[in-house]
Amino acid sequence: MKIKDVTKEYPNKDLTIVWKPKRCIHAEKCWRNLPEVFRYGKKPWIDPEGASSDRISAQINQCPSGALSYYWNEDDKTPSNGTTVRVIPSGPLVVKGNFELIKPDGSTSIEQNAALCRCGASENKPFCDNSHQKIEFEQ
Ligand code: SF4
Ligand code: FES
Repeated sequence: MKIKDVTKEYPNKDLTIVWKPKRCIHAEKCWRNLPEVFRYGKKPWIDPEGASSDRISAQINQCPSGALSYYWNEDDKTPSNGTTVRVIPSGPLVVKGNFELIKPDGSTSIEQNAALCRCGASENKPFCDNSHQKIEFEQ
């Protein structure tokens, strides 16, 4: 099944949860750890009122792929300092923090947390889609 390349936003009074389903690599952290908000199998599957905004932001910071991100409603969404890039053995580059992504066609977007493909096999480049497991990427 093809997952749609869409972005959905779920605001509460403090922050807005941003959901990009195509980026999800199914680490399952979100709905296992905070099922009051990430309600697997329900529609809509995200309830931004299901827990405090602090718990929601802490959980989203654990999402390895950037499929889930958020911004504080008062913020201006510009990149902040302190962004790190971790090289996962035989896996993607995991970027933690906000950064500006510049695509080959010159279009730009502000991203928060992402797993970037390092194996070359992803069908959702520059993002990882877990294809490194299929091709048994080793490096
Ligand atoms: S934590 Fe992120 S990558 Fe993992 S299942 Fe949730 S949305 Fe997908
Ligand atoms: S590193 Fe995950 S798909 Fe390439």
